[in-house]
Amino acid sequence: MERIMSYVVITGASAGIGECFARALAAEKQNVILVARREERLNALAAELKKQHGIEAIVLKADLADQTGADALARRINEGGWPLAGLINNAGFGDRGAFSDLALERQLAMIQVNITSLVSLTWQLLPALRKQSGSFVINVASTAAFQAGPNMAIYYATKAFVLSFSEALHEELKGAGVAVSALCPGATASEFAQEAHMTDTKLFKAGTMTAEAVVKKSLAQRRNAIVIPGLRNLLMVWSGKLSPRAVTRRLAGWLQA
Ligand SMILES: NC(=O)c1ccc[n+]([C@@H]2O[C@H](COP(=O)([O-])OP(=O)(O)OC[C@H]3O[C@@H](n4cnc5c(N)ncnc54)[C@H](OP(=O)(O)O)[C@@H]3O)[C@@H](O)[C@H]2O)c1
Repeated sequence: MERIMSYVVITGASAGIGECFARALAAEKQNVILVARREERLNALAAELKKQHGIEAIVLKADLADQTGADALARRINEGGWPLAGLINNAGFGDRGAFSDLALERQLAMIQVNITSLVSLTWQLLPALRKQSGSFVINVASTAAFQAGPNMAIYYATKAFVLSFSEALHEELKGAGVAVSALCPGATASEFAQEAHMTDTKLFKAGTMTAEAVVKKSLAQRRNAIVIPGLRNLLMVWSGKLSPRAVTRRLAGWLQA
């Protein structure tokens, strides 16, 4: 009964991993609140999920590259009074190129979407999440979080922030019953590589996981502090831990040169 009445907020639900989260949760009969800029895509997805699974799917258009967009979104959700079973901070993007060559504006927007809006939404929606027993927050980080990334310096740094922040919050909120998980996918088939100008990198040419497989693992382990889907990604992270940082950062730079 509680599940059908409660909602999970998913940012970046118009494509890729976020869209898969929406589909997987709807199949669990979970109501969802879908967030992104491309409203027409969200409307089509919401209509499909309602028809297929008989759930409620609310569409909220928001530009999370803008702090006022994040604040307005949090306000609408809180004023809507929907009981929140979960928050999936998934919206994010990257860009390949040397720090000095990429436009400063785009890199600051990346920090806003990947970090600042994620933090703002988490802080502003936590009171509602605390009210629901067994609620959860999934913050989408990346295997990029585990080392520095030459040619994608800001992106890697944003994901290191997300991982560190989520791990700390996992411990802080244990007693409050809110599970916080950092999802750390490696190369995944979605619109991400195109947006980040990475389709021809060694990293993506070596193969990708499906977004469905990433989401399945994340939801199954949503109460774990860190979730790394896929054996190859797990091995990469583990081997990275045993290597000097000078090695891992050069390897990351080589994979996306
Ligand atoms: N794919 C990978 O290889 C990979 C690997 C590790 C981590 N990740 C992370 O996984 C998350 C999801 O990425 P994906 O692979 O699913 O990429 P994607 O297919 O490009 O989807 C990105 C989503 O983020 C939304 N988004 C981007 N900028 C936004 C903004 N300013 N305001 C609101 N929403 C915005 C997009 O929606 P609109 O454009 O409609 O706004 C879209 O729904 C990201 O955080 C990414 O860093 C991806």
